[in-house]
Amino acid sequence: MTVKIVNLKLNGVDRAFMARPDTTLLLGLRDQLGMTGAKRGCAQGACGSCTVLLDGSPVVSCLVPAVTVDGCAVGTIEGLSDGQALSDVQQAFLDGFATQCGFCTPGMIISAEALLERNPDPTTDEVHEAISGNVCRCTGYEPIVTAILDAAARRRGAIAATTPETDAGPPPTTAYESSEGMRADV
Ligand code: FES
Ligand code: FES
Repeated sequence: MTVKIVNLKLNGVDRAFMARPDTTLLLGLRDQLGMTGAKRGCAQGACGSCTVLLDGSPVVSCLVPAVTVDGCAVGTIEGLSDGQALSDVQQAFLDGFATQCGFCTPGMIISAEALLERNPDPTTDEVHEAISGNVCRCTGYEPIVTAILDAAARRRGAIAATTPETDAGPPPTTAYESSEGMRADV
């Protein structure tokens, strides 16, 4: 069976692994690259526990042939934290008790990250839609949905806090305006 070297940018770092035609991205990540955050649940595309980002979009990695991701960017749960510092979504899950056994959590968080990247202010229905491919057998989903909405609010708050306020002041007076603000040339 032909073996191919797959090159990818994994969580921002250039990595490579050997793949047969039947090797899935999930198995490549877990067995060859040591990224065990993505979980093997159904291996049929039905549970979402293996969700990773492929060029920024969430995919179920158990259905992605590894040879097709050559040259792509792949993001996993391991790439979200900064050392011991959790991402805002991870912290919201922790603070909101949105995980129990934890098996679904990496996939849930990756789906949430993808949602917040394209929609920083989602509605509850949009959160439901975003995680509709992720199955949780423990939490009943409500803490997860609440955590994602909380993470979105935290992220918006952090962005607002780092955006300098601009004091535009009064509109500038141009050569075409009189001191009363009326155009002088009409
Ligand atoms: S393990 Fe991939 S969707 Fe279930
Ligand atoms: S926390 Fe157990 S499956 Fe979701």
